Amino acid sequence: MSAAALQAVEAAHVVPNYARQPVAFVRGAGSRLWDDEGHEYLDFLTGIGVLNVGHCHPRVVAAIREQAGTLLHVSNLFYTEPAMRLAERLAERSLGGKVMFSNSGAEAIEGALKLARKNRRGGEIVTVHGGFHGRTYGALSATPQESKQAPFAPLVPGFVAVPPTAEALDAAIGEQTAAVVLEVVQGESGVHPLPLDALRAARAACDEHGAALVFDEIQTGMGRTGSLFAYEQIGVVPDAMTLAKSLGGGLPIGALVTGPALADVFQPGDHGSTFAGGPTVAAAANAALDVLDDPELLARVGELGARLAAALRDVPGIAEVRQRGLMVGFDLDAGGAPALARRALLEQRLVLNATGPDTVRMLPALVVTEAECDDALARLTALLR
Ligand SMILES: Cc1ncc(COP(=O)(O)O)c(C=O)c1O
Repeated sequence: MSAAALQAVEAAHVVPNYARQPVAFVRGAGSRLWDDEGHEYLDFLTGIGVLNVGHCHPRVVAAIREQAGTLLHVSNLFYTEPAMRLAERLAERSLGGKVMFSNSGAEAIEGALKLARKNRRGGEIVTVHGGFHGRTYGALSATPQESKQAPFAPLVPGFVAVPPTAEALDAAIGEQTAAVVLEVVQGESGVHPLPLDALRAARAACDEHGAALVFDEIQTGMGRTGSLFAYEQIGVVPDAMTLAKSLGGGLPIGALVTGPALADVFQPGDHGSTFAGGPTVAAAANAALDVLDDPELLARVGELGARLAAALRDVPGIAEVRQRGLMVGFDLDAGGAPALARRALLEQRLVLNATGPDTVRMLPALVVTEAECDDALARLTALLR
């Protein structure tokens, strides 16, 4: 079916909660996508940060094929080896506690919120301005953006949003706080790394008052910033973190990863999900982890990202560039980011996205090549010249 035919189906039958671009993709490989007419695109958005291993990574595809032909699903009433193995690997590689799987980022956040409230009954959840944690009620309540929250009020009570500064966090966190939920680098706000002193202040105040520090690593995790998890580079260790997006190598899986102190807060019956951590998504995630937890690949992410950011700073019309690994955001002097992203797609066959009126975001695959980065820069420069 052509993009035009699919648009007609959408107009008649699909709830209009997305503003889709008029392109229908049919195939992907590495950093490339192809549309229904055979045109090739350079993908610097990768399913909004889902394909850190690139499109259709052969190891991920092979693992899915193998698992799908053996056992697709059994529920969490039974054991499967892919899920137990993935939990063991994530816990040992990060916070040393335990792992609870979910199907998406928002669900991982819901798990973190419920865990924190069970740990400190009735406690407040502290979040920061500019944060984004998802669209379900708990995650939305932790996402202090008027335009996203207002139509859905009343939200979940007990959420407090403060500026992402050391002073504000220190003042907001107290004996009444169940958890502080933060992104180390805010993604949806346009790639804004939080100040290190704010993260340290949150850690110190959580320690002082017995609150849980939760890092939302849904976008920053799985190698995106040049280490498997972003917290590893800042020397501030959370009590728990949430993962999703690239965890499954392209399939939907999320996880709440705890440190030892929170590992046994949930008991049977407290939380659950029919599909969470099913054998097929867990097999895909194990294969993606095999690819991503590689010091050489991660070092390359840092180098390529710094090189890309330096080159973007020389592009006319770009005012500010923010970058951690291959998580890159830039502001345009003259605004018009949504229009630029659309022109990049339709005129240059470069996939990007606008996170706001002035800001464009790049989330290329971590296996992107230097030549592909240069190609993306050339396509972008052609539009801004
Ligand atoms: C930091 C962060 N947290 C949570 C979410 C929500 O994840 P999902 O869309 O899988 O529910 C996102 C999605 O963009 C995100 O970037």
